[in-house]
Amino acid sequence: MVKIAIMGFGIVGSGVAEVVTNHKEDIGKKICGAIELKYILDIRDFPGNPFESKLTKDFNVILEDPEIDIVVETMGGTKPAYAFTKALLEKGKSVITSNKELVATHGAELLKIANENNANYLFEASVGGGIPIIRPLAQCLAANEILAISGILNGTTNYILTKMFRDGESFETALADAQAKGYAEKDPTADIEGHDTCRKVCILASLAYGEHLYPEKVYTEGITKITAQDVRNAEESGYVIKLLGRIRRVQEDKVFAMVSPCLVEKSSPIANVDDVFNGVLVTGDSVDDVMFYGRGAGKLPTASAVVADVIDAAKHMQSRKWISWKETDRDFVVDHLDAEERYYLRVAKTANAEAGIADIFGNVCYIHSDCADELAFITEKKVARNLEAECEKLCATGIEIKSKIRLL
Ligand code: HSE
Repeated sequence: MVKIAIMGFGIVGSGVAEVVTNHKEDIGKKICGAIELKYILDIRDFPGNPFESKLTKDFNVILEDPEIDIVVETMGGTKPAYAFTKALLEKGKSVITSNKELVATHGAELLKIANENNANYLFEASVGGGIPIIRPLAQCLAANEILAISGILNGTTNYILTKMFRDGESFETALADAQAKGYAEKDPTADIEGHDTCRKVCILASLAYGEHLYPEKVYTEGITKITAQDVRNAEESGYVIKLLGRIRRVQEDKVFAMVSPCLVEKSSPIANVDDVFNGVLVTGDSVDDVMFYGRGAGKLPTASAVVADVIDAAKHMQSRKWISWKETDRDFVVDHLDAEERYYLRVAKTANAEAGIADIFGNVCYIHSDCADELAFITEKKVARNLEAECEKLCATGIEIKSKIRLL
């Protein structure tokens, strides 16, 4: 009999309780035993909830119970999730998490503690919700050098951008809708400012390259400055706007990592990843391109990934899964200002704007805008620091830059 506990009875935690209970018999067959959900830790009361009898407010009840082998952490954030996870792993209990903030910030250390105590620390649900991506990257693609990973890693922002694009909704309405559906983080800042995508980029890069990539090293832009006008301009020109996490091996021991909105050609597979779906394109030196697609957020899709990890941990009680990466203070991320990209710019139209633009940016490709007071164009490939300097020059001529978005 494997007895488990859940810490955090929010959207994902309650989904895990449901899936474990509803699939109890099937899970039992898969682990060649039986599974029981013994405790749920939460500081809140849930009167009348079918799982009410399992609720506890005392973490030590779980920590000190020798019957508990596996603990699911769906609390989110680092406090108290970090201290709780550490204490559990030190006791040799396996921890399964959907908490990308914790893995992105303390993953290397927690994996080391798990290793030292012959426990498992598994986090499939931390990236891509219900999409299998951690295990494929760590196991199925292990024979490859990972050349690049890029994709849509945040369901909330993809849902918002899809609503803006498809239904012409305002950013605020689409965000409220995403929150009502339970996709957004408690504080939507993490979604809309790109921090959630950044954490997922860090987890994937750490796994792919074996060294911990910390979130503060990754240049991150969110979608709060994207306007309905940008979305329309992009559409008119054969593009959609997506928030992308991008990682690329650039030299033997360096990586490019960035989170930013990008104009993506409609013909790209990434452009057709809509709503709350995530899509991740992994390029390996042997396998070439592999695409992962599915629901990137939501109660049951995320619970699906968590419970799969519970099953895996239950099947590996006496041994350790080998997933790990090392802590490092080596600066292995290239400066984002050295990256070469094409840019979409939307600027206020003035009498001499086109001459000024040609003078400063060289060849550009104008795109149709239905706003008579503005010009929109796409530059040639430029090193970011040169583009910044050119934008400053344009502003100095009195022309306001209203939007600047990278092209994939
Ligand atoms: N808020 C996250 C998202 C949840 O929208 O993708 C899943 O990580």
